[in-house]
Amino acid sequence: MCGIVGFTGSEQCSEFLVQALKRLEYRGYDSAGIAVQSGGKIKTVKAKGKIAEGLQEKLKEEGVPGGSCGIGHTRWATHGEPSDVNSHPIGNGRISIVHNGIIENYREIKKFLIGHGYGFESETDTETVVKLLDYYYSSDPVDAISKAIRDIEGAYALGIIFRDFPDKIFAVRKESPLIVGQGKGENFIASDVTAILDRTREYYILEHEEIAEISPNKIIFRDSHGFPITKQLKIADWDISTAEKGGYEHFMLKEIHEQPAAVRNTLSPRVKNGLPSFEECGLTDEKLKGYKHIFIIGCGSAMHAGMVGKYVIEELSRSPVIVDIASEFRYRNPLLSKDDLCVIISQSGETADTKAALTLANEIGADTLALVNVVGSSIAREAKMVMYTNAGPEISVCSTKAYAVQTAFMYLLAFRVALARGAITEEKCRELTGELMCIPQLIEKCLCDKEQYQFVASKLINAQSLMYIGRGLDYALSMEGSLKLKEISYIHSESYAAGELKHGTISLIEEGMPVIAVATQSRLADKTVSNVKEVKSRGAVVVVICKENFEFDNTIADYKLTLPPISDLLMPMVAIVPMQLTAYYTAVLLGRDVDMPRNLAKSVTVE
Ligand code: G6P
Repeated sequence: MCGIVGFTGSEQCSEFLVQALKRLEYRGYDSAGIAVQSGGKIKTVKAKGKIAEGLQEKLKEEGVPGGSCGIGHTRWATHGEPSDVNSHPIGNGRISIVHNGIIENYREIKKFLIGHGYGFESETDTETVVKLLDYYYSSDPVDAISKAIRDIEGAYALGIIFRDFPDKIFAVRKESPLIVGQGKGENFIASDVTAILDRTREYYILEHEEIAEISPNKIIFRDSHGFPITKQLKIADWDISTAEKGGYEHFMLKEIHEQPAAVRNTLSPRVKNGLPSFEECGLTDEKLKGYKHIFIIGCGSAMHAGMVGKYVIEELSRSPVIVDIASEFRYRNPLLSKDDLCVIISQSGETADTKAALTLANEIGADTLALVNVVGSSIAREAKMVMYTNAGPEISVCSTKAYAVQTAFMYLLAFRVALARGAITEEKCRELTGELMCIPQLIEKCLCDKEQYQFVASKLINAQSLMYIGRGLDYALSMEGSLKLKEISYIHSESYAAGELKHGTISLIEEGMPVIAVATQSRLADKTVSNVKEVKSRGAVVVVICKENFEFDNTIADYKLTLPPISDLLMPMVAIVPMQLTAYYTAVLLGRDVDMPRNLAKSVTVE
């Protein structure tokens, strides 16, 4: 969950390293640093805080290290608080490394090394790797790396420079992602391809325990024993503009506005003759008919998209669907069998718990389908079947367009499962699919209502705590709405099944507490309105999110956010937009760092 970058070429590299780190800052941002081969020495500059406030200020004070080979890191602290000394790169003058992951047996390694006379300065697990490499190193870096990784347990992506090899970067990884970029007379390493898109779109994916030796004009790949291997070159189909703000104040706002296009890109290739089709990954009707159960697993927003999937699949096909949080699923001996389908949802394709859930599902022998945004990511490669959500890079830590495309995909899956099982006719399936294809226009319509959302946001900023309520699909949606608001505004927020309020939680309602009631489902909206009355009479300030033609006693709503008419089943696809934008404007009004909220990181590659 940290960001790693490295460059070796012929030009001064510090500025490139800093800019590339900025593009990786979504991965972690409590400290950052660079180490550059500079006149026979490794020069390191690193600082606590975000890149602009910490590292860049320090570079101004201390001077930019000259040199054309270096590594950089932006950190999300696991071992040791964010501080200058715990920042990466970590080195000893001879060797310097950047690390993403967790070394699980670092205590034993540290003890061993202390026994061999090594001292330690930082509280990090990473420092043990530097010292272990130093212990094994005499003159051959690859030999030292091969020996060190035999001792290390845990997850790591490592970028390493050795003072004795001034134009080379060495890289190795296990679990945590790392790519090697290929340019002309310059080569790179990076945690993901967006960091280097302004220089090259050609890259290799480093696999478990493979070691890369990277010079300006040559890249050598070896297996963990040091034997050379050949690898397949990949070409990224994202261009640099997709990873830049393009005139928007924040990536989050840009990504919210990219939702119509992203949803189109997810849906279009999977609709053939007006019907959903999953031929690309071999998910046939026969298979869909045969699965005993469907499991949907993910974390955060991905799991919330799965919740919508559950409601829709069950509603249409009358087959049970189990949705689980990946970190729970992996440890609870799940009742999954080889006759089941396990759908794994992940934007990054690298989330540690989600990946472990996939490994478990594969071990059990279930069919696994990964729904992933990042092409070639670990989850995409490990699943038996994969479908990409084609949303383009999502940079903001707070997920928006990824949720939209994952949810859109859930609908396609639900329609096809229902058709395959004979629960709906082909005509009905065509009708539903047609309606789904119109969603991007309706999202565009919602995006125009900026003032409404800003106004409601201005009413939320003084709240200490608030609540989202809804029933059925509205409850699934409330979970995502509440998560958006709390993660970027830092206002405490809960989502609650509206009918459950009375069983304890209503005691939290006090004068002036905002309650956001989602009431888009005709069958249930009146029930939710009754719950609204209950909170209103206890002093809550109520925001109702409903269809524009929904008629109810208007006196119960202090504020109303309305949605264009569409069938109830598809409502989550549009109703999420007001929630995302209300959360966004609330955070902006509160002066929060919208794209990099405190304590979070986008890609959670540790448990
Ligand atoms: C992090 C992000 C969330 C995201 C979750 C799952 O917590 O902050 O926005 O939903 O991870 O990420 P994934 O990449 O697996 O979808």
